[in-house]
Amino acid sequence: MRIVLLGAPGSGKGTQAKRLVEKYGVPQVSTGDLLRAAVTSGSELGKMAKAAMDSGQLVSDDIVLGIIRERLAKRDARHGFILDGFPRNIPQAHALDKMLAGLGQPLDTALLIEVDIDILMQRLTGRRNCENCGRVYNIFTNPPKLDEQCDYCGIPLHHRVDDNEETISNRLRVYDAQTRPLIQFYDERGRLRRVDGNGEVKTIFREIVKQVDEFGAGGKTAKPARAAGKPAATKAAPKKAAGKKVPAKKAGAKKASSKKKPVAQKASAARKKTRTTTRPARKAAKPAARKATARKKKPAKKAVAKKAAVKKVTRKKAPVKKVARKKTARKTTARKTTARKAAAKKTPAKKAAAKKKAVTRSRRAVRR
Ligand code: AP5
Repeated sequence: MRIVLLGAPGSGKGTQAKRLVEKYGVPQVSTGDLLRAAVTSGSELGKMAKAAMDSGQLVSDDIVLGIIRERLAKRDARHGFILDGFPRNIPQAHALDKMLAGLGQPLDTALLIEVDIDILMQRLTGRRNCENCGRVYNIFTNPPKLDEQCDYCGIPLHHRVDDNEETISNRLRVYDAQTRPLIQFYDERGRLRRVDGNGEVKTIFREIVKQVDEFGAGGKTAKPARAAGKPAATKAAPKKAAGKKVPAKKAGAKKASSKKKPVAQKASAARKKTRTTTRPARKAAKPAARKATARKKKPAKKAVAKKAAVKKVTRKKAPVKKVARKKTARKTTARKTTARKAAAKKTPAKKAAAKKKAVTRSRRAVRR
């Protein structure tokens, strides 16, 4: 989500931007807030900006563009941002286009919050801020529970120096002369969307969300949304989130240490445990995948094992056969030898018998 919130001073850009931060998890980049922070810090840049801000004039483009360039280069702006109070004139709009083209992140839309001029004065004169948590009140439309005190921080609320009638009038004139032309600028480029900003904060927010979801930028959410209605700038929120994560990690480390492993192994086990808590989906998917792979591999393995077994049997049988053959050959040879021996034994007997017969025959012949 990369959007510009356009609108006159007091139209509710800051109020709605904070709600968008809660819902979509992208940072609000307010040049007014960045400049005020520079003034408070007493930096050179702040000193240069102060006079223009106090009189309701625009701070020079050089200063503002430098601030914006630095802010958009920060890590949290990589996945989107809500620009509040920037661009303020045509040269700033061109510079923004160039900057975003360089980053390969063109603007999604410019959302114009339209409010009747007579309402603006009441909203601006009645505005009060908490300088600790950033919550914005209005003594007419959204007063704090206790007079001039933040409902959450309990500290006195701040009345902006430029929220006096004279400076407000100047700011409205500057808006008409320098900022209003941006409506046409974005309209001609097909990037303008309009929201009626006269109603209740909630109603306007609902309409803005509808528009954001329509052009699809809401889908680029980088972080999960926190509970709506609380400013993003609160210091307690990140602490809370961090507090939730720590016990999980400790628990993982404890479990690992209970196995009495060496320090390196403990750390490794703790890391594994932490990973399990942060990426449950992937971990859960792994065993199933392994099972599936095992199932697929099993038949193949069996087949290979069978083949190997067959080969082994073949290899083992072959020498057995040879031995058997050898044994058989030996046996056959033995038998033959025995036969021959027998034959050899028998032959003289036969010969003797034949001789006897021959002798008998010759004797008979002699007698005759
Ligand atoms: P900046 O801080 O940007 O002031 P702005 O543009 O005048 O806008 P505001 O912050 O006054 O009004 P908003 O629209 O945010 O209204 P909000 O939500 O607070 O700039 C200050 C100065 O810095 C400029 O004058 C200039 O000098 C300098 N500057 C800043 N950017 C610059 C740039 N790009 N180039 C050069 N110079 C720059 O609401 C106002 C009040 O209304 C609140 O009390 C709120 O509670 C109430 N409210 C809001 N919505 C509703 C609603 N729907 N119903 C009832 N009350 C409501």
